[in-house]
Amino acid sequence: MNGTPAAVLPGHVAIVMDGNGRWARQRLLPRVAGHRAGMEALRRCIAHAVRRGVPILTVFAFSSENWARPAEEVSAILRLMAQALIDEVPRLQEAGVALHVVGQRAGLPADLVAGIEQAERRTAEGCRLVLNVCFNYGGRWDIVQAARQLAARGEPITEASLAAALALAHGPDPDLLIRTGGEQRLSNFVLWQAAYSELYFTDCLWPAFDEAEFDRALAAYAQRQRRFGRTPEQVAAGAA
Ligand code: IPE
Ligand code: IPE
Ligand code: MG
Repeated sequence: MNGTPAAVLPGHVAIVMDGNGRWARQRLLPRVAGHRAGMEALRRCIAHAVRRGVPILTVFAFSSENWARPAEEVSAILRLMAQALIDEVPRLQEAGVALHVVGQRAGLPADLVAGIEQAERRTAEGCRLVLNVCFNYGGRWDIVQAARQLAARGEPITEASLAAALALAHGPDPDLLIRTGGEQRLSNFVLWQAAYSELYFTDCLWPAFDEAEFDRALAAYAQRQRRFGRTPEQVAAGAA
């Protein structure tokens, strides 16, 4: 097979899909055209994750902080999301993708929430890829809502109990965290879960992120030595 898959495949890839606005600007297009092109890039990326056998893909689509953008841009993003939930479901079902939309539902328009619930229900049987779309999501929001759940149930707060109450608790932490668009920051994404993620930054703007870019990130990941606090020698010796 061409574009050989990385020898060590991450079980969970998380992506900050950044750079839509700059991609559009470079083409003298409105920012929303960048978001539309970003949707195409996500479609390609999902197909490639399935092709490569990555079992979990988590993408950052709209942050708690993105409400600060101009109202027209925010409503264009909400509309794009609502439309994508309708248009993409058959393709997701066909590809065996189970969709989870992760983030605060309060504050989203009721029809969008209904669209999210319907798309999640209709893709629930997918067993090739778990796709988490983080929408109205912030890592701090998630940690606070998890802590509140534990407090309300009167449960002790431990690393394990808090982790289990997080909105992404249905899967393991990301092994590889990619950020496109050249910035090297988390911007409030998966703050808890990225504790030991391998970070990969690329200048590629999200709408231009293609199969080859994805393979480059997977290849870079395959070269990393994950030590989780141990010494390189311990890891090389296969210490448990
Ligand atoms: C990421 O692209 C998409 C969202 C945050 C919704 P941007 O819109 O942030 O693109 P740049 O960073 O302005 O290029
Ligand atoms: C992060 O990108 C959020 C998403 C990709 C959805 P931003 O473009 O909002 O991040 P900052 O504001 O540059 O940190
Ligand atoms: Mg940005």
